[in-house]
Amino acid sequence: MKGIKHMTRQQINDKANDLLSKLTLPEKVAQIMQLSYAHMDEKERRMWIERGIGSLLHVMGSDAQRFQDMTLETKHKIPLIFGIDCVRGHAMNPKATVFPCCLGMASSFNTELVERACEIAAREVTEDALHMVFSPVLCLGRDTRWGRVDETFGEDPYLSGELGAAMVKGYQGNGEMRKDTGVIACAKHYLAHGESMGGRDSYDVVLTHRKILEVFAPPYKKVVDAGCKSIMTAYQTIDGLPCTANKWLLKDLLRDEMGFEGFVITDWDNTGRLVWQQFASPDMRHAAKTAIEAGNDMIMSTPDFYEAAISMVENGELDESVVDESVLRVLKVKLEMDLFGEKRSQFHNIKNPSMACEEHLKINEELTNQTVVMLENKNNTLPLSKDIRKIAVIGPNADCISSQYGDWTFYTHPLPDFTKVPETVNITIWDGIKSIAEKSNIKAELTKWDGPVSVYYRGEAPDPNDIQSLHRAADTSDIKNANQNLPDINKILKNCEGADVVIAVIGDDPTLNGEERDRANLDLPEAQQKMLEAVKEAGHKLIIVGITGKPLTVKWAKENADAMLWTFCPGAYGGSAVAGVLFGEKNPSARLPISFPLHVGQLPVYYNQLPGWHGGKYIDLPKESLYTFGYGLSYSEFEYTGLECPGRIKAESTEDINISVTVTNKSNMDGTTVAQLYFRDMVSTISTPVKQFKGFKRVFLKAGESRKISMTLPMAELAIIDHNLQRIIEKGTFNLIVGDGKYLEKEFTVV
Ligand code: GLC
Repeated sequence: MKGIKHMTRQQINDKANDLLSKLTLPEKVAQIMQLSYAHMDEKERRMWIERGIGSLLHVMGSDAQRFQDMTLETKHKIPLIFGIDCVRGHAMNPKATVFPCCLGMASSFNTELVERACEIAAREVTEDALHMVFSPVLCLGRDTRWGRVDETFGEDPYLSGELGAAMVKGYQGNGEMRKDTGVIACAKHYLAHGESMGGRDSYDVVLTHRKILEVFAPPYKKVVDAGCKSIMTAYQTIDGLPCTANKWLLKDLLRDEMGFEGFVITDWDNTGRLVWQQFASPDMRHAAKTAIEAGNDMIMSTPDFYEAAISMVENGELDESVVDESVLRVLKVKLEMDLFGEKRSQFHNIKNPSMACEEHLKINEELTNQTVVMLENKNNTLPLSKDIRKIAVIGPNADCISSQYGDWTFYTHPLPDFTKVPETVNITIWDGIKSIAEKSNIKAELTKWDGPVSVYYRGEAPDPNDIQSLHRAADTSDIKNANQNLPDINKILKNCEGADVVIAVIGDDPTLNGEERDRANLDLPEAQQKMLEAVKEAGHKLIIVGITGKPLTVKWAKENADAMLWTFCPGAYGGSAVAGVLFGEKNPSARLPISFPLHVGQLPVYYNQLPGWHGGKYIDLPKESLYTFGYGLSYSEFEYTGLECPGRIKAESTEDINISVTVTNKSNMDGTTVAQLYFRDMVSTISTPVKQFKGFKRVFLKAGESRKISMTLPMAELAIIDHNLQRIIEKGTFNLIVGDGKYLEKEFTVV
């Protein structure tokens, strides 16, 4: 798709400066504000259009276009940017294609398909008169107590950067903004939002600049290099300093060091939070000054910013040139987006609507099929043979599409006038199993789980599909007084009688994931654990399927399940993807992008730990996680042989390091292995992790097929950040580690 060729950079600069010269101070301040449509009435919305507001969020379709059309009546006719939370497809619209959550997409290790999914999402949001998606999320899910792990690509910075860059290309296009369906990507939450102490949402993060440069900045560098047009400032403080007020972060690092040229937008009311939540500014006037001077160009959902900023400039306490800089950045992106041209009326000109069209659903199904991780398969329990007679399907997530969808969908964030049930395809786990069982004349029986999946509540049981009621009812902090729908175990056991296999679909639901939904206990809810133990006690063959937004501490399940599959909020096609693996129609190829702790007390358990722990374990727990990053089983058996890499490499080389290895599918089933490349820097003046993930490649091999594959390791990936904050490649030995479950190792030396 051709980029928007309509204006050169110089023309865009000139036009933006020309527009700026015509704006009054109040019009400039309004232009760098983004307000929530849903939090205003019609009168307020019109007032802000008159003031010349720059952007609205959380409105779509005809309502959005209606206000865009109104801009033509304003003095300067500057179009609005409409923003939306589209983190896993345009999932706030029940008519759209809902992909797996980002943690699920990451388990595919499929960069190309993730990019394609975002191209689809961009096209669908464009058809809803939208221009900006608050995605990709580049937070690292390193403390799984945090409520928003499902939005991340998992624990590894390399994988997050690769998939984040793929998302940016999918949304915007490769390089220039894609003409018809390009949308502004907004990488978030800048930065290290998931690293809060105790996994507490938006709580203080204790990091040095060095650690930021080593772990948390690299994914952002990758999306900046991919041309990302906007970055969202995180809520939290870093070592006590709010990100919103952090000039080093927003200017020195993001602009001067990484070369970011787009605009920085705050998260929801970050500017106001400086006053009322972080007590870092005495009043809104100072907060407004702090936010703008630190490098925030657009202010999300802080209406009082308007008067405050105007007054600070008029009193000479805030230099108008600083406001001008931000206005220019916003205007330039609007010009790049062709918003002053055809895109302004895009909603009126949709020729062939594509919302959840067959082509889009096909890509969703293909991607979802690659997100089912097989964690256990004892004695080849799976795939189920087609000649079994009866399957009993139990558990709260067996037939619960809201758990399959999870956070940042119309279930958890319903916009006004939008229904809370999908209006396109949605296949629950039970739907998927039933459909294959029927074709194979297998009797399958579902025991419905009455009431909510996993929420403790008081009063009557809320409707599991009405997340707002669940959120209102959820009261896990008062479990002793709350109650939970303890299932009728006897009824479940009765329904399991005579079954050749019991499939228990367990996990969490949107009340246990999301903003302000951190957990100190990652065990399965008690009711589910009781159910599993009763079924095992009754002597059944037990297959466990986990549907969650994050890893749980499922030690009992690992030890007692005959087989176990796991998938993170798989979305619309979760049921067919899981059933396909259960019955062997699909060979599982997903790998974990995040480690499962054995116990919450072990956290953090991410794989790339530093050496040096005295004793190397707790006295009451092992050091090892339950399942580690990169793990996943297949029906095929893959063998890696013949690892080759250069023995000696010059430290000053700028060439990629070429690596090759031969992979063989030694089974009688075609399948896909995820070749993973790690290394260990054996001696470094800064202690470095025992293993660093630095490359991956999905390789499909027919039964018995053998192939020599090549992978490249950029020299820059060998660098450490020394205590002078310099990125340096040190001479010495590196141990290369390549494989998929089993690994070959080979040393090379940098000289
Ligand atoms: C929320 C989230 C952010 C989201 C924004 C707009 O509080 O932190 O991820 O994009 O507000 O909905």
